[in-house]
Order: sequence, then structure tokens, then C-alpha cells
Amino acid sequence: MTVLGATPTRNLALELARVTEAAAMLAGRYMGRGDKEGADQAAVNAMRLVLGTLDMNGVIVIGEGEKDNAPMLFNGEKVGNGLSPDVDVAVDPVDGTRPLAFGRSNSLAMVALAPRGTMFNPGPFLYMNKLAVGPEAKGVIDIEKPIVDNLKAIAKAKDKNVEDLTTIILDRPRHDEMISEIRKAGARIRQIPDGDVAAALMTSWPDSGVDVLLGIGGTPEGVIAACALRAMGSEIQGKLHARDESELRRGREAGYDFDRVLTMDDLVSSEDVFFATTGITDGELLKGVRYYGDRIITESLVVRGLTGTIRRINAIHSKEKLDNLSSIRY
Ligand code: FBP
Repeated sequence: MTVLGATPTRNLALELARVTEAAAMLAGRYMGRGDKEGADQAAVNAMRLVLGTLDMNGVIVIGEGEKDNAPMLFNGEKVGNGLSPDVDVAVDPVDGTRPLAFGRSNSLAMVALAPRGTMFNPGPFLYMNKLAVGPEAKGVIDIEKPIVDNLKAIAKAKDKNVEDLTTIILDRPRHDEMISEIRKAGARIRQIPDGDVAAALMTSWPDSGVDVLLGIGGTPEGVIAACALRAMGSEIQGKLHARDESELRRGREAGYDFDRVLTMDDLVSSEDVFFATTGITDGELLKGVRYYGDRIITESLVVRGLTGTIRRINAIHSKEKLDNLSSIRY
């Protein structure tokens, strides 16, 4: 197993919470303002600033943003202060820019770290079919099999009937066929407008009421979800999805195999993975940011793969002190 070099016992996830808290506090100011780019830019600025203070030699492998020309941390960008350990970094400064811009739920700031060279690099291929489950159903899914077979296997592993299962899937026309297969199998369906990383996390959260994530969403989001789910002892499988023949051809020319199943090990091959996320708008997993004059309250989850510890962190920040210390204004 690849383990982070110099200080394997250090819990970088706790430091990562500072990164996602900063992103959420700045981006949260944009709630409902209809300004997706402004919100994303604020979160990117905050993340870049705080990532730079961490003891690590990081390279951005997943810098979300290409899909809609959003502001981004660039793939290949160096982050951290250059000290060891050498790490791959995946960021999603705002997962759910639309929900944030329109004041809807489940918008999150998130970041993951893993030892250098262990994260899947999707290149410019933006979409991926995903199948994700929590720890109880780990090892029973197979994205190559029909949906009904997977649902039966998941139900069996969770000691439920297929009718008891709740599936979650992005509400997109491309999912019409999958939705009719799920309906035929008899499972319940939650169609969500955005945010399939939050949806993947829900499969692993005891009281979320969600059993399985299906469907095509962002590839960067797939890799970051894999980091979180790996740390939580869960499972995600994926397959790159080409939107048309020309994308398929370009992918093949670049050496990507769209028929290959991307297992958990392909998506992130180390157990020594760290993940943190902070709520921006209120959601099922985390409360969004609250502003009270000088005080700003955030709620975050941090997960460390080696130990499997999941921490929920409630933080009260002093805006005045942060503004004095930092080049950004909260
Ligand atoms: P953004 O916040 O970057 O817009 O991503 C939101 C999201 O819903 C992701 O969670 C999901 O993976 C992806 O968009 C789905 O892409 P699309 O909206 O193009 O179907």
C-alpha cells in the first residue's frame, strides 16, 4: 500500500478542513445571487490561499472547472509549501455552483489528498458513469451488470428488499433509460438537480436514507467521490462516458479506454487518503455557512482513510481576526 512518506500519522484531513472552511465562508456570501462564476472564483481564491500554507508538496490532479469554463485551480498547479509529503490533490471548490447561485440545498466545498501518483487523471474527459454504495454493500456491485442485478445484490447485502432501496440519480434526460430500469426493478428513486458528490457521500451516511448512486456525472467529481468513499470504506465504480463519436475518438487517441471499468483502486489506489468537505448551503449532510456579524459558523466532515475516522467539525470563526491575518476578506 502506498502511504504518505515522511509523517504518515499526521492527520492532514484536519488541516484540509481549514481549506474547505475558507472556501465555504467566501463562497457562501454568494448564496442566491445568481452568480455562479463569482461564487466559484471566491472559493478558488480561498482554497488556493489556504492550500499554500499546508506542509505538503502537492500537485493538482483534479482541478474542477473545465466543464463550464469556471474559474479553477489548474491541473498540474503546485500547491502547498513544498515540504513533504508528495501528494496528489483533488479540489472541488464548489460542488453545486447552480444550487449555490440560486440558494438551493447541498452545495459543498471539498478537497482530497492522496500520495503522489495514486489518483486517476481523467484528462479532458468530463463525464463518467458511476455506481456507488456504502460500506455494507462494498464488494457486491458490478457496473457491467444490469441495474436490476446490482439492486438485488445491494438489497441482499443490506438485508432489505429491492423495494426498500432508495437510489439517487441526477435529473438529466440522459438518465431516462436508467430510470425506467430502476422503476421496473421496483426501487425508489430520488432525482436530484445537482451535486452527485454529496449524493455519493449519502450512500455512506447512516441516516441519509440513500442506498445507491447511479448515473452519469462529472469525472472530476467521480475521482473526488472515490477518495471520500475509499476513506469511508465504501465503493464506487465508474466508466468514462463519451458524449459523442468525436469525443470517443479523441479519448481513444489519447489512450483512454471507455470500455474499461474503473474500480476503486483505479480511481485512487492508496488507502492513505484524506478528504474534507464543508457545507456552503444547507444540505442533508451538513449545515451551510451562517454569518452573524463578526462570527461565522461552519460545519465540516473530515475523513482519514488509514484509520477510517470520520469527524464532524463545527467551527466558530472570527471574521475580524481572519480579515486582519489574511489577504482575503471573509
Ligand atoms: P458544478 O458545481 O461544477 O456545476 O457541478 C455540479 C454537478 O451537478 C456535479 O455534482 C455533477 O457531477 C455534474 O455537475 C453533472 O454535470 P452536468 O450538470 O453537466 O450534468
